[in-house]
Amino acid sequence: MADPTVKPRPRIAGKQVLSGVQPSGVPHLGNYFGAIRQFIALQEQNRAAYFMADLHSLTSIRNAAQRRELTRGVALDFLALGVDPKRSVLYRQSDLPEVTELGWILTTVTPMGLLERAVSYKDKLAQGLKPDHGLFAYPVLQAADILIWRPDFVPVGQDQKQHLEMTRDIAVKFNLTYREVFKLPEPYILEETAAVPGIDGKKMSKTLGNGIEMFAPDKKLRSQIMSIVTDSKGVAEPKDPEGNTIFQLYALFANPEEKAALADAFRRGGVGYGDAKKALHEKVLAYFGPAREKRRALEARPDTVEDILRDGAKRAREATAELMDDVRDAAGLGPPKP
Ligand code: TRP
Repeated sequence: MADPTVKPRPRIAGKQVLSGVQPSGVPHLGNYFGAIRQFIALQEQNRAAYFMADLHSLTSIRNAAQRRELTRGVALDFLALGVDPKRSVLYRQSDLPEVTELGWILTTVTPMGLLERAVSYKDKLAQGLKPDHGLFAYPVLQAADILIWRPDFVPVGQDQKQHLEMTRDIAVKFNLTYREVFKLPEPYILEETAAVPGIDGKKMSKTLGNGIEMFAPDKKLRSQIMSIVTDSKGVAEPKDPEGNTIFQLYALFANPEEKAALADAFRRGGVGYGDAKKALHEKVLAYFGPAREKRRALEARPDTVEDILRDGAKRAREATAELMDDVRDAAGLGPPKP
């Protein structure tokens, strides 16, 4: 269902854009069409910074080796799919330690009531995570991630909208308490997210385990596609392309003629779900073929990836140093300004 609060995305150019992805699992088509694809498009005409939120992942993953692996995985995904590390700043959140400093400063102006209203916190408890302070303070660290860049726009999925609003509230609190240091960033809600159904027809999501993973080995990718749930109509029977998961996924890759051809074939009958799944599988492989290859090549060169991240961290620290000085000065921390 279209969310009426989601406004058409503005075309933006010459802006500072910032977003992060929590390394919590392998990416799927929903992550790509919902977010990553747009990160890549936005870097063309804007200054973009993207990071792997490994500090945020501390709130849900307690295994060090797993965190390293997942964090590196997200970097590989970004690079393979087209984040250009020369144009954009790609970094690991923990390599910009000022974020944690800013997080503490912001924590001291964040009302408890604001955090108590966070839907994500309640959702995580409902999912069985134990309430701890990190989980509760999660949105404050996110506010620090964002505000440290003074971004114009923060592209995120609909589920992050409240976190963006909280970021703005926290920025206002600081500005009123000390002085006008922070700029209020605009959310840039990525609408496509809802349009990517998982293999069970519900919105594709890591927690539901209904994803199609574009970087999975082909055998696994194939079996994920083959397990898309359909009704039991036989090959000859006419089928409705509307609300048909295979068709909706196929439409993400197909040009208008191919889309119309599959819709017609479904309506006429004579095309089975198995055939349509095969066609979808081929589309996915063709579309992600170059990225799959690039990812394999990068995987074999871990030093190259580390060099990219080291360079990203350096640029991130340079780009945010002035803001941090301003924050410390406004709050009366550290040596007085000469
Ligand atoms: N909370 C975000 C998510 O789960 C990840 C995130 C952390 C983020 N810090 C951010 C996103 C800053 C955008 C900006 O997807």
